[in-house]
Amino acid sequence: MKDSACVEFLQWCLPKLRLRWKGFRKVRGQVCKRINRRMKELELVDYKNYQEHLSIHKEEWAVLDSMCRITISRFYRDRSVFDAISAEILPALGREVERGGGAEIRCWSAGCGSGEEPYTLQIVWNLRIAHEMHRDTVFRVVATDPDSRLLDRAQKGKYGASAVKDLPAELLRNAFTEVGSVYAIRDAFAENIAFMKQDIREESPEGCFHLVLCRNLVFTYFEEALQVDILENMYEKIVPGGYFIVGAHEMLPRETTNLVPLSGIPCIYRKSRS
Ligand SMILES: C[S@@+](CC[C@H](N)C(=O)[O-])C[C@H]1O[C@@H](n2cnc3c(N)ncnc32)[C@H](O)[C@@H]1O
Repeated sequence: MKDSACVEFLQWCLPKLRLRWKGFRKVRGQVCKRINRRMKELELVDYKNYQEHLSIHKEEWAVLDSMCRITISRFYRDRSVFDAISAEILPALGREVERGGGAEIRCWSAGCGSGEEPYTLQIVWNLRIAHEMHRDTVFRVVATDPDSRLLDRAQKGKYGASAVKDLPAELLRNAFTEVGSVYAIRDAFAENIAFMKQDIREESPEGCFHLVLCRNLVFTYFEEALQVDILENMYEKIVPGGYFIVGAHEMLPRETTNLVPLSGIPCIYRKSRS
């Protein structure tokens, strides 16, 4: 079916799902493909028919919503961000938690895909930071995503070469076993990750976090009013002095005076203490 017809359809349906066309412009191909497949399944011949179907079968909106999830990810995505997490953020959090007599560091990876982001955090902590700690600080990651298929894949922990291509070689060597063309994450890196099926528009994990990552999701694909609501909620989940990271090409919807950008890397923020 024609790209222009899909564009017109997306421009009609995305605002109704509180999503924004601007985020989808470049990646619409995969969404259009899924919608075309769905229309075939339903034996609908064009988008007009699908619109009618949506107006009669309200439950179809949830199906359409799930077809609009962009799921691209990879390990150590945006190297400069993970370099800063590794060189600055995790060591600082480790020292702070130790000084305060705490026993654990808590991170939340929101929109965790197939586990690439939460596993990267565990890999960096375990292979680069843990040995510098004076005590056995537990490094926990809560990883949330509404897509059960992705979460299943995350729990299996098996990836192709393209998913690990940005990982520095020493991390790749020590964190995975390689069998043929499959890279399997070693069990140790999965120990302190809790994968949970959650939609960020509806719920968030319990408790507060020293580090929250919400990358390439809310601030790209969601409409601005929804971004503001979710940001307020996430902000409350960050401990004072904790860090908040968005995608390398994302911006917060408005200035939040208590979230201060880290110098040099505009997508990393620190929550002030007062
Ligand atoms: C483009 S991927 C980004 C993955 C990872 N954060 C990264 O930056 O590499 C977006 C992820 O957000 C998830 N997602 C989509 N809608 C969501 C929602 N409403 N709540 C939570 N996660 C969502 C998708 O399933 C997908 O795994």
